[in-house]
Amino acid sequence: MSTPAADRPARTDHRAAGGLSILPVTGLGEFGPGSDLAGELLAAAPWLADDDVLVVTSKVFSKIEGRMVTAPADPAARDALRRSLIEDEAVRIVARRGELTITANRNGLVQAAAGIDGSNVAADQLALLPADPDASAARLRAALAEHGRRVAVLVTDTMGRAWRAGQTDVAIGAAGIAVRHGYEGAVDDHGNPLRVTDIAVADELAAAADLVKGKLAGVPVAVVRGLTPRDDGSCARDLVRDTDDDLFRLGTDDALAQGRREALLTRRSVRQFAPGAVDPQEMHAAFAEALTAPAPHHTHPVRFLWLRDRGRRDALLEAMSADWQADLTADGKSAESIGKRIARGQILYDAPELVIPVLTGEGMHHYPDQRRRTCEETMFTVAAGAAVGGLLVALSVRGLGSCWVGSTIFAAPTVRRTLKLPGDWAPLGAVAIGHPATTSGLRGPAATEGLVMEL
Ligand SMILES: Cc1cc2nc3c(=O)[nH]c(=O)nc-3n(C[C@H](O)[C@H](O)[C@H](O)COP(=O)(O)O)c2cc1C
Repeated sequence: MSTPAADRPARTDHRAAGGLSILPVTGLGEFGPGSDLAGELLAAAPWLADDDVLVVTSKVFSKIEGRMVTAPADPAARDALRRSLIEDEAVRIVARRGELTITANRNGLVQAAAGIDGSNVAADQLALLPADPDASAARLRAALAEHGRRVAVLVTDTMGRAWRAGQTDVAIGAAGIAVRHGYEGAVDDHGNPLRVTDIAVADELAAAADLVKGKLAGVPVAVVRGLTPRDDGSCARDLVRDTDDDLFRLGTDDALAQGRREALLTRRSVRQFAPGAVDPQEMHAAFAEALTAPAPHHTHPVRFLWLRDRGRRDALLEAMSADWQADLTADGKSAESIGKRIARGQILYDAPELVIPVLTGEGMHHYPDQRRRTCEETMFTVAAGAAVGGLLVALSVRGLGSCWVGSTIFAAPTVRRTLKLPGDWAPLGAVAIGHPATTSGLRGPAATEGLVMEL
């Protein structure tokens, strides 16, 4: 049901309801270090009036503020200089493809080549963005105020956009204007609350002004009239999305590369699981990836026994528990101590899924002497261990927790008997699997001191 018009909150709008004019500032000369920008602007546009929005191409500030770099004529040397400038300007590489590098600079601006540009400058020059475009805008606004003009200032640059072909101008510096108009709390004509609408007014103005500035006509400044800018103290930095809030803080290739690098760090032993079975497709996908583990003689020495039948699982665990109790009693442990130890095996009952990795003898070479037989067995055991390690990681990258528990190794005959396995199959523990009860982020890499030896 829509809210009656009279009950709706008053609507504040970002529109210039009476229309806008966008006026080019023509006749400006070439700017250089220390040029009196305010003076030159007023000479070219004596008609500049209070409440105008002055939209200035960032390159004007690059030239005035000494942000031009002399580049060699040789194309290879020019490219090398460009690459090193990009490295200096960038604080973060967002994406790379071939020669194209998308960077974030110290002002948070994400754009190609850190905004370094060779257009509309002398052939032997490259323009770096102004170091602090908000400060550049504020300085110009203050200088114009000294001349008695109360205007807002936008500093603009041309950028491509993710998902959209073509480029538009955006505001990289701003002073004297609310750069965004949020509609949170407002209600549209149909009574729908506007929750996420937050118009980047400064970017809209920058793009509109480019329609009269252009890229070839030598018109680096335009005036937008008709808006009556509201100064809320915001600046263009407020248009930069926080990295933590940004769903797309990395390019696809870089996100994939980071994901690959961090895959191992997603794993930790999880001993508490949320209720609920695991999607069988995810289990199968994890098995399939784990079974790519390296193995000697092109064999598959490991089998994953996924105990899906609850009765079979319980029977196995009960039989193993009886074995364990017998061992502990033979060790002379007290009933209390035995109870405590047995309780630790509860995870194998509680886990939503249970997998017993088993080493088969399949593919092993048969040597006449014990020494080589033991070596061969070790080789196959470590290969099977690699597959189990892979399974744990294949699960964790899917958000699934696991804990590899060793107990079946100590109860091999019981496991073979209960699960009716061939006599030469050796269980390699059990993997408890499920959705973790609590979420935990990536772990840090391990300290390597004393564990890695460079010989
Ligand atoms: C072969 C093997 C047997 C293990 N047995 C047990 C076990 O019986 N009970 C248990 O809680 N954890 C067991 N673990 C898990 C280790 O305790 C765990 O890997 C170790 O504490 C490091 O923690 P993390 O896996 O979170 O890095 C075992 C791990 C391996 C590789």
